[in-house]
Amino acid sequence: MTSSLFSPKVRDVLDHIASEQRRVDETEQPKLLEKIRQRKDPWTPEELVSACAGGYYAAPAAIGRMLYTCVRAVRPRTVFEFGTSYGFTAIHIAAALRDNGTGKLCTVDLHGGKCAAARDNLKSAGLDAYAEVVTGEAVDVVSSFSPPIDFLYLDGWVDFYLDVLRAAEPRLRSGALVHADDTEKFAAGARPYLDYIRDPANGYVSLGITDGQGLELSTYTGRPERVVS
Ligand SMILES: C[S@@+](CC[C@H](N)C(=O)[O-])C[C@H]1O[C@@H](n2cnc3c(N)ncnc32)[C@H](O)[C@@H]1O
Repeated sequence: MTSSLFSPKVRDVLDHIASEQRRVDETEQPKLLEKIRQRKDPWTPEELVSACAGGYYAAPAAIGRMLYTCVRAVRPRTVFEFGTSYGFTAIHIAAALRDNGTGKLCTVDLHGGKCAAARDNLKSAGLDAYAEVVTGEAVDVVSSFSPPIDFLYLDGWVDFYLDVLRAAEPRLRSGALVHADDTEKFAAGARPYLDYIRDPANGYVSLGITDGQGLELSTYTGRPERVVS
């Protein structure tokens, strides 16, 4: 069986997002990086989403293929994605769910226009049955999410990763895969997340992978019982 990733419908949408990202982010990304450089106070989710509203900021193609590979191997029932944008990574995850014949993605973004575009892109790719795009703040959405999560993909904003992880934790299955992007690109913002997830007392086994932007791959083993001596 050929992967859905190589079907013409899926390829057309992914190629379109990638070429739009090259065109738009060429001017948008330097503006955003300058805003980040000048920013001294922590961002609120609304401020951050407004600051990056003009750009795509889709993950690199290799990350898309890594997500496809992980979802095929893990066969998750439920995937939760923080940071939809135009749906580049959501399409890779949804293609893998279709090829698995099981599982559903919930992907969340606070930007209503990007969510609408991601829904259109998933539909054009023929993958809308495998993904629900939710407009909202990620911590709020995951806090009221009920299914157990087998795979948590973090690609929103590194400063919020720890809050999203802590909100998701009560729903993480033992053995859940957690993938966090951009942990080296925005190293200072990612520090609290990395300190938390690399501390075995918090119930994870974790490693950093250097791919130019940095990604942290972890599995949730469950919080160790406290030993009372
Ligand atoms: C790097 S982009 C996501 C890229 C996407 N995963 C892809 O590869 O196509 C980050 C997205 O996270 C969204 N975002 C940032 N903070 C958020 C928050 N607290 N809640 C919901 N969405 C947020 C932004 O609006 C932006 O679209």
